Amino acid sequence: MTSRSREFWEGRYRAAADAGTSLWGAEPNGWIAEQVAGLAPGLAVDVGAGEGRNALRLARLGWRVVATDFSPAAVEGVRAAAAGLPVEAVEADATTWTAPEPADLAVLCYLQLRPEALAAAIARAAESLAPGGVLLGIWHDREDVDRGLAGTMDPGIRTTPTETRAAAESAALVVELSGRRDRQTAAGTACDCLLIARRP
Ligand SMILES: C[S@@+](CC[C@H](N)C(=O)[O-])C[C@H]1O[C@@H](n2cnc3c(N)ncnc32)[C@H](O)[C@@H]1O
Repeated sequence: MTSRSREFWEGRYRAAADAGTSLWGAEPNGWIAEQVAGLAPGLAVDVGAGEGRNALRLARLGWRVVATDFSPAAVEGVRAAAAGLPVEAVEADATTWTAPEPADLAVLCYLQLRPEALAAAIARAAESLAPGGVLLGIWHDREDVDRGLAGTMDPGIRTTPTETRAAAESAALVVELSGRRDRQTAAGTACDCLLIARRP
């Protein structure tokens, strides 16, 4: 089982752009929006940002944001959507990229990778944080598939609280929340894997 390739995502974003549509819509992820509502703005990195729905919300809340994705079409889309907002869109691989200056917040929203690649992305995000900085992660949980809920995606690129906690702790982060939450979708009930971790 492999992570979905750059070509896979590039094809999806390019097709959506050509059709004048969006893969993920304009609204930020609900859990991310809840979590950032009470944070003091600073510098945020949105890793695997896609079309930038979370990055744009952060920028509108007063954050300076670096939004990264390995799909050039996604990056172009963020640049266009973020005109006039303090969002820098960067083409980069999440398993190797670190922020050029220490960030106060790192967001990983449905960055579905196989375990070693996800651990690398969490480690790079942890390295990108300033002391006291927070990592917010949300993923499609493997339990979703196991429980026969809404998920249809390859279980090899889903994850669990145990795996994401271990990756965060290996990256010297202090885990503040590690758990699961059900979410209603058009396809039925889905299960998210959640992580909040802080750089000491
Ligand atoms: C399910 S989408 C989520 C996009 C966005 N975070 C959101 O919630 O709207 C996953 C994103 O991760 C990106 N991605 C996957 N693997 C990546 C990698 N190794 N490096 C950078 N981006 C990656 C894809 O291009 C895609 O935009």
